[in-house]
Amino acid sequence: MMKTSSPSIIAIDGPAASGKSTLGRILADRLGYLFFDTGVMYRAITWLVLDRNIDPLDEAAVTQLAESEHIDIRPPSQKDGRVFDVLIDNRDITWDIRSPEVEAYVSVISAYAGVRRALSAQQRRIGLRGNIVMAGRDIGTVVLPEADLKVYLDASAEERAKRRYHEIIQRGEKADYEEILQKVLERDRIDSTRAVAPLRPAEDAIIVDSDRMDVEEVLAQVLELCR
Ligand code: DC
Repeated sequence: MMKTSSPSIIAIDGPAASGKSTLGRILADRLGYLFFDTGVMYRAITWLVLDRNIDPLDEAAVTQLAESEHIDIRPPSQKDGRVFDVLIDNRDITWDIRSPEVEAYVSVISAYAGVRRALSAQQRRIGLRGNIVMAGRDIGTVVLPEADLKVYLDASAEERAKRRYHEIIQRGEKADYEEILQKVLERDRIDSTRAVAPLRPAEDAIIVDSDRMDVEEVLAQVLELCR
């Protein structure tokens, strides 16, 4: 008999602001799966490091924190646009992890081998339960190489900066396109040149270029791959 069920573990990797979480969220919704955005965990640890006045460059101290702290991701408790709650130390840090301070240090902290080891192990445990869409940088290559479907969602730096720019403007805040583009390029550089689990497509990943496609088109393409 032909197997017709959807893939149980779906990995979506790709650079910053390529649309992984938008795609992941809708895809998970369509399939009735859980959506797990793993970048949230790196952001939560970064937030805690800054909150506790730990030097982000102190790798040993940051690693110890990542090994001992428990990050909780739960269904949304408020209707303020959030997709889930992010809690650490019983504090709701859902929006705090999106701050420019966290953005400035998250790439540095997520390059630490010990931090990655601690967080990847938790991610793997959650992923192995199945019926899940996981977004990140190394899900298909390191965290869950056995994923049933691996999508590498790519887009040019200019396009990604443009999307970030519009997101910020839509929230009614001020934004500078050139500055955002520089930050996107800098994060790409750090994420793809780090020694441990650098950003790159898995050999068996399907590369989807979203430059000239909107979310619906990308979704249609990925749903097709699920069949
Ligand atoms: O996807 P994001 O922008 O929320 O990710 C924040 C940072 O975390 C990003 O700089 C790379 C890092 N990250 C990672 O190294 N591995 C993952 N699986 C997810 C995110």
